[in-house]
Amino acid sequence: MKLQIIALTVFCALPLLAQKFTGLALTPPMGWNSWNKFGCDVNEELIKDTADAMVASGLLDAGYQYVVIDDCWHGERDSLGFIQADPERFPSGMRALADYIHAKGLKFGIYSDAGWKTCAGRPGSRGYEFQDARQYARWGVDYLKYDWCNTEHLNARGAYLTMRDALYAAGRPIVFSLCEWGNNQPWLWGRNIGHLWRISGDIGVVFDGEIKHDGWSSWGVLQIIDMRQNIRQYAGPDHWNDPDMMEVGNGMSVNQDRAHFSMWCMLAAPLMAGNDLSDMTQETVDILTNREAIAVDQDSLGIQALNHSSQDSVDVWFKPLAHGDWAVCFLNRDVVAKAINFVWADHQVVDDVADRKVTFADENYSIRDLWAKKAVGTTDKPFSAQLPGHDVIMLRLRPMN
Ligand code: GLA
Repeated sequence: MKLQIIALTVFCALPLLAQKFTGLALTPPMGWNSWNKFGCDVNEELIKDTADAMVASGLLDAGYQYVVIDDCWHGERDSLGFIQADPERFPSGMRALADYIHAKGLKFGIYSDAGWKTCAGRPGSRGYEFQDARQYARWGVDYLKYDWCNTEHLNARGAYLTMRDALYAAGRPIVFSLCEWGNNQPWLWGRNIGHLWRISGDIGVVFDGEIKHDGWSSWGVLQIIDMRQNIRQYAGPDHWNDPDMMEVGNGMSVNQDRAHFSMWCMLAAPLMAGNDLSDMTQETVDILTNREAIAVDQDSLGIQALNHSSQDSVDVWFKPLAHGDWAVCFLNRDVVAKAINFVWADHQVVDDVADRKVTFADENYSIRDLWAKKAVGTTDKPFSAQLPGHDVIMLRLRPMN
């Protein structure tokens, strides 16, 4: 009898136990976020135009889904403490905006902060976590980016756990994006809390360099790639390392944008466009919608690439893919062109994380160039090509037998 009561109590309590909503990000989330291009200059016209453009430009068809409003959408809390959208910027309200976005087959994302104010000084969620989560659920939010400014004395794991539990209690499945810049090593504790976590400070529109601000820096593409070593084993389906939203289309050269995008795909990074989708060059569209590169990012194994070698400013990265395939990326970190002559037979790649190994002297693969979009031979002959400065050659290898 006693046992039965205990079993019944445990059984009844189970649905109440808070947890992360699982299965929402089995491959890295793809979408758009307002911050990199528009900063605080957000309003409902911009968000609706972006949703329209996401569909019209082919980004939705290529896999982009989330339209995320970053900082500065907030108005005041009402007399009961529920957060409201800024009535001037969002006169129709968030529910109407979510409906508009959903009607296009897209998903709606929003931003808050674990501290008492957001990074741009809008109301944060500290002390209002459960109320804010309920409000987001009512509005129809599908994705929450949760920042880390003004969090004095808070414990990061505890603060993110509180918001995870609040989202769960609100009952609407919401992708939870942790944004504490890697300060507290979220890859060690974030797996059961969020679906992705930032691993760096903010990206800037620079390929190689650091942009200094008052007391903080934003970082170039190469700096972010290099920033964290040995954390690839912590990423996988439903829990991704996030090297920040993309700067493709925001002012770097086409070569640099292509290299940036390719490396984000190799790193199994969330692919959040950060440019003006209503005003894109054809080159920007072509980069963001390269389906074969996207397929590398979205591969079902969800394994981050490993840095196989670095020589004369050319990195060679390998990413194990499903069905025995591999993606390979030659990244030219230098501004001058390099001659590539890669003798496959001299290389063996051993990936302990994925438990995969390839010895090219013994195995033959067909090679497809994912930017030239054509077959370029097999690995039983050396691969030779010219690689322009700050650019990549990205290949997909497929076993021949
Ligand atoms: C932090 C985040 C950015 C952005 C801004 C908004 O810097 O890292 O991605 O959300 O705050 O203020």
